[in-house]
Amino acid sequence: MRSHFPAVTNLSRAPEEKREAVTRAFAPGGIGNLGPGLDILGCAVTGLGDTVEARFVDAPGVHLERSGHADLPSDPFRNAATIAANEVIRRLGDSRAGVALRLTKGLPLAGGQGGSAASAVAGAVATNALLGGRLGQLDVLAAAYAAERTLSGRHIDNVAPSLFGGILLIRSTEPFDCDRLPVPPSLRIVLVHPAMQLRTAEARAVLPRSVDLGVALAQAGAVAAMVAALCTGDLSRLRGAVDDRIAEPARAPLLPGFAAAKRAALEAGALGCSISGAGPSSFALTDGDQTARAVCDAMTAAYHDAGITASGRVAEVDQRGARLLEADR
Ligand code: HSE
Repeated sequence: MRSHFPAVTNLSRAPEEKREAVTRAFAPGGIGNLGPGLDILGCAVTGLGDTVEARFVDAPGVHLERSGHADLPSDPFRNAATIAANEVIRRLGDSRAGVALRLTKGLPLAGGQGGSAASAVAGAVATNALLGGRLGQLDVLAAAYAAERTLSGRHIDNVAPSLFGGILLIRSTEPFDCDRLPVPPSLRIVLVHPAMQLRTAEARAVLPRSVDLGVALAQAGAVAAMVAALCTGDLSRLRGAVDDRIAEPARAPLLPGFAAAKRAALEAGALGCSISGAGPSSFALTDGDQTARAVCDAMTAAYHDAGITASGRVAEVDQRGARLLEADR
């Protein structure tokens, strides 16, 4: 295992500490499929995220006391947070543990901002901490990934950044291996959420099963160019590199307003723009706050002109990833 991410120290209590009666974890949303990096480049984004509170109950198993939203499953075997928590308990071999979860959604549902991944990560982190923090970070990741795999498919480019923070290049999903890429300080992220939903499974169903050699080579070149731009810190080299020729052409027809928003972003000075995760949100990358605000305004206006309500925000890469919060007593 050659993953180059820093050890995460904020996810567990020291084993000798008394077991907490209640734990709370926050996991940030993010952008999976960052530009051309379909399933292999993802980043965590500051601001919105999901929160899970875990507490002991007498009845063994994982119970879902609050599903996070009326439209989210209350069945613990279908909700991301509880699927992940079940996997934590399975990995600990703690079959007598009784844990109840309350999920608070900060991220939009089926919004393309890593919402299901964040619920899974927060569920895994809160449950692991409740049970003494005995699982290491790769097992916590595997537990969250089990939920994402069950609900959306075999990709970890949203779960891993939500847990570890940063911009991650996924070298391998199973077994997991990644590199953490440098984040130039002036890099800003514009995330725009049009008022619609697109389920990841649906957006994955339209992906091509095979691609032309020319497309494959252009995509590989674009990923390499993004990595080079981030590693050299020369953000101007991102121009032209956020060029997804596989997922974006397949998914854009499902996303009214996206093409106009992308044009508006580039005209307003964005370094690049594409679909966030599986959509429907779109993102743009900029150098600095001022351009980011102009790009955000231009993108939301373009959606509105296309008859679609949209809300945008300017954010940064969340370098911290998931963290434990003080529990409400
Ligand atoms: N890599 C995934 C996709 C992210 O683009 O389908 C979904 O959250």
